[in-house]
Amino acid sequence: MRRLVSETRLHPADLVLPVFVREGVTEPMPINSMPGVVQHSLDSLPAAIAEAAAVGVGGVMLFGVPESRDAVGSGATDPDGILNVATRVAREAAGDALVVQTDLCLDEFTDHGHCGVLRPSTGWGTDFVVDNDATLERYREMALVQAASGSQLLGLSGMMDGQTAAVREALDEAGFADVALLAYAAKYASAFYGPFRDAVESQLEGDRRTYQLDPGNRREGVREAILDIDEGADIVMVKPAGSYLDVLADVAAASDVPVWAYQVSGEYAMIEAAAAYGWIDRGRAIVESVRGIRRAGADVVLTYWATELAGWLKDGL
Ligand code: PBG
Repeated sequence: MRRLVSETRLHPADLVLPVFVREGVTEPMPINSMPGVVQHSLDSLPAAIAEAAAVGVGGVMLFGVPESRDAVGSGATDPDGILNVATRVAREAAGDALVVQTDLCLDEFTDHGHCGVLRPSTGWGTDFVVDNDATLERYREMALVQAASGSQLLGLSGMMDGQTAAVREALDEAGFADVALLAYAAKYASAFYGPFRDAVESQLEGDRRTYQLDPGNRREGVREAILDIDEGADIVMVKPAGSYLDVLADVAAASDVPVWAYQVSGEYAMIEAAAAYGWIDRGRAIVESVRGIRRAGADVVLTYWATELAGWLKDGL
């Protein structure tokens, strides 16, 4: 009876698996702060995709971990850069079984770890600031390389103003009309990204508060989502998920495009850590956390548990 009257169902197709791919390694490398998650090698990537596809996961979101970094993130726009190579490998492995998506952001590729290129500051208190408009030029180039590599959905996670419109225009001019855009519309400057920065070996010192949203601002999250929809976003996202369910509900009510949410690395690590101590029931906590995000209004959830959870769902939860 409870199943019959349940208001929120989980389905494998509503889950997306984030996947890290590291340049120059021959086997998967564990990530300390994310037990159970690895940096894949190009060799281990196809099996991870096949495993996700076998249980019906809707898509994978690829992140590249390059061997070398520089000020402008050159590896991001190199067709032979790790993310672009991984995209080609992933498409080959995925066939039509799931959607291959890529993170479109410079932070994994820059030696300063920011999501954009820097320029000297004209104000006081800091030597450099992120140059919004120069970064848009880099994002346009990245979009074309990612699209040419076979990415089907570009995840705009850099939080630069105007990034959705800039990338849409670049894609249209180059004839990539079928490549869709996922705008990380309401992305908050969050402590919950901590483990991710280990996973991509981020070089960041300081924080991203000048371009990511202030955790106290609820209205601003909705405003950012509407701006991105007006700029041509096909999907908008709220991130992190668990601490921002109110924003997610607001965005879901205001949006006329699909709304996704990202259950981020810190949310994953907290549940894994507590479960490892025996302090919570791991399986129930995973299901409840993802169900709560769906209940708040997410059509799709990006979660590091996507494959495992989809397996449970397939077996009838
Ligand atoms: C930026 C990006 C980040 C995450 C996804 N894309 C890191 C950041 O903004 O610092 C975080 C994801 C997670 O914590 O799981 N490329």
